[in-house]
Amino acid sequence: MSPPPHVLIFPLPMQGPVNCMLKLAELLCLSGISVTVLNTDHIHRTLLRRTNVLSRFSRYRNFRFQTISDGLSDDHPRSSERFLEVFEGMRTVTEPAFREMMISGCFSSRSASPVTVIIPDGSFSFALDVAEEIQIPVIYFETVSPCALWTYLRLPDLIDAGEVPFNGNDLDVLVESVPGTETFLRRRDLPSFYRGDNLANHVMQIILNEARHVPRAYGVIVNTFDVLDASVLVHMRKLCPNIYCVGPLHTLHKSRLAVAPKPTTQKPQSNVSNSLWEEDRTCLSWLDLQPAKSVVYVSIGSMARMTVDQFFELWHGLVNSGKPFLWVQRPGSVLGEYDDGQVPQYLVDETKERGFIVTWVPQEEVLAHPAIGGFLTHSGWNSTMESIMEGVPMICWPFYVDQQVNSRFVSEVWKIGLDIKDTCDRVVIEKAVNNLIHVKRDDFSRSVKALAESGARSVAEDGSSYMDLNRLVEDIKSMNL
Ligand code: UDX
Repeated sequence: MSPPPHVLIFPLPMQGPVNCMLKLAELLCLSGISVTVLNTDHIHRTLLRRTNVLSRFSRYRNFRFQTISDGLSDDHPRSSERFLEVFEGMRTVTEPAFREMMISGCFSSRSASPVTVIIPDGSFSFALDVAEEIQIPVIYFETVSPCALWTYLRLPDLIDAGEVPFNGNDLDVLVESVPGTETFLRRRDLPSFYRGDNLANHVMQIILNEARHVPRAYGVIVNTFDVLDASVLVHMRKLCPNIYCVGPLHTLHKSRLAVAPKPTTQKPQSNVSNSLWEEDRTCLSWLDLQPAKSVVYVSIGSMARMTVDQFFELWHGLVNSGKPFLWVQRPGSVLGEYDDGQVPQYLVDETKERGFIVTWVPQEEVLAHPAIGGFLTHSGWNSTMESIMEGVPMICWPFYVDQQVNSRFVSEVWKIGLDIKDTCDRVVIEKAVNNLIHVKRDDFSRSVKALAESGARSVAEDGSSYMDLNRLVEDIKSMNL
């Protein structure tokens, strides 16, 4: 008898990717597949403090965590503007260590058979090189949006056509080399790294590698559902025929968990968050006191950082809008220092009146709260999917990675929000909040609800994402025959 399938899941060490790859890991465990999640030491240490995450996974006999070094010291901030150092650490330390681990077979033990499939983050080109050497199939997991992934896969053509890199001029010129988006995608909507500078050159190399490696893999998993990204997927499938659309992953995860037989005698957990930080739940009681659909929820995710100027513009804009707001001020999310004396008293007073500031929230629960009327977001892909599924329209203020592309799709393709990219001005923010909560509310709400319904159908039994997850499970099992 052949040993049972054993999947090695290897996320990029960031909140967004760790969050959704742990969800995929749990779904595979529930399907009877052995899973090892390989996290960097730093991410694992952070998870050790999140006892609810660890105790949830400890219920699965077919699940294990393993760790690998990212080559950085414990006190390295691993923040967005120093993330290149994380990539460099991964290149010099993690890559050779990973190769060594795979070749020595260190993931197999008395309780776990050898790895039969690797599911690495889409940016880990080295994983495919190692896997090809030892003849193990790779299925990439793309935690960025399909619309952004499509602009990654087209990067060689964008460069050949002279459309990338570009400087700050002519940002409103339409892009020609990304099929399916020619009528609405401007240069400013391409991933920020395509705007030529030094950082861009490094990241573009990583993306170019990704564009060359992803089509060579056995398949690609994306966090979307067919209705949402049909216009992009039809083109992408010409390059990567085997795409598994398993999104909205957080919804698919919740629905499968709800019906799954409990693996042990332990009580099922209601909190299935994979948050790396402690969540402040007091905001939910504050939301209970606010009128329906009145509150703007503000968060820029786990990595992005704003300047002190942007921080004050945002604060003024929120206060001047006159609407209640719930604002996640993640420690370290403001780049630079300011004195409390710099804060105008009226901002403090008005915030006491109508605002609530926290360091980290249970975001899915916040977005599901009836008081939430809109989400001012950095347009990270998880946040975008979570907002869509709760029927919450968005104001998009993108920073980098896939966020520029996502925000364009939110405003121009799905028509479920406003895109204020490349501006952070109090007048623009005040106007956008008022438009979102009042003027455009009905139009946006209609469109986002329709998408949420399609998303819910896709994860229900026989829905497209439900079926794609089954196909993924079957493919993984068949690779072991
Ligand atoms: C990163 C990139 O920035 C993003 O563009 C890419 O699409 C995925 O990887 P991140 O910046 O963390 O992700 O944003 P996002 O993808 O939106 O993920 C943030 C996650 O943190 C979401 O799942 C959200 O629910 C969670 N979150 C955020 C909380 O649980 N609490 C908070 O207070 C804020």
